[in-house]
Amino acid sequence: MGQTLPKEEVVKAHFDQRAKVFETGHYVRDKDKLDKIVEFAGLGGIRTALEIGIGTGAVAREIKTKVKELHGLDISVGMLEKASEVLPRNRLVVGDAQNLPFLDNSFEFVYWRSLITHVPQYRKCIEEAYRVSKTKALLIEPTLPDEESANWFFDLNRLRDDTHTCFFTVEEFVEWVEETGLKNVEVETMQQTVEVTNWLEAGNAPAGLKEKVLEFCRNAPVDVKKAVSMRFAEDDASFELKWAMVRGEKY
Ligand SMILES: C[S@@+](CC[C@H](N)C(=O)[O-])C[C@H]1O[C@@H](n2cnc3c(N)ncnc32)[C@H](O)[C@@H]1O
Repeated sequence: MGQTLPKEEVVKAHFDQRAKVFETGHYVRDKDKLDKIVEFAGLGGIRTALEIGIGTGAVAREIKTKVKELHGLDISVGMLEKASEVLPRNRLVVGDAQNLPFLDNSFEFVYWRSLITHVPQYRKCIEEAYRVSKTKALLIEPTLPDEESANWFFDLNRLRDDTHTCFFTVEEFVEWVEETGLKNVEVETMQQTVEVTNWLEAGNAPAGLKEKVLEFCRNAPVDVKKAVSMRFAEDDASFELKWAMVRGEKY
């Protein structure tokens, strides 16, 4: 029997490999969604900011012109290498979102997009974001309409890679954020169509996986197909996710 690697090691290795194709994912550089993130963030008067799980810097590219000093942290050196095309290296840190190497209240604004679905202690991550933020936080995650679809999406992802720990509904996500103590919590959602072919390519999946994934989509429970608006084309399938943007203030 082989030893199981800690999830963080699996995530690191996956994103190191995937860094070169990550931005081909249709949502990653979607200008319309990035504009909505910047607008919802409300960055007037913010000087210092941190993106946790900065990846290749796709969101940071938009935020950096709106704040005086933007920093980024990620567990994957490969992703940070790409992010160094967006931010100076001395503002990028290798680290774990579950245990941030920063003092309390270090950054006025703390945010992430798409992080805790890869993290074993996802509540700890939210607490850490709260701890290091001084005035507000914006946490963005993909969500599913119900538990059955969230479980189905988890199983679908496992066909492609073993980096995920959980998927959840908007309501669950908001509840966890509110539990940290963030106040005046506001929520906005954005729809995303996921096309299986693009999802596989941008996930650095082996070419032979597509038929298996399409079969998995065809065999999804009827309720899940309905909940995620699954559609089939000749050589592809697509379905809908909802990005939840949850913003709160610290004091
Ligand atoms: C789906 S990507 C999102 C990247 C970027 N935020 C974006 O939206 O374009 C998730 C990122 O989180 C990072 N990540 C995953 N687990 C992490 C952890 N425990 N600590 C820090 N970063 C982590 C990954 O390496 C990856 O760069």
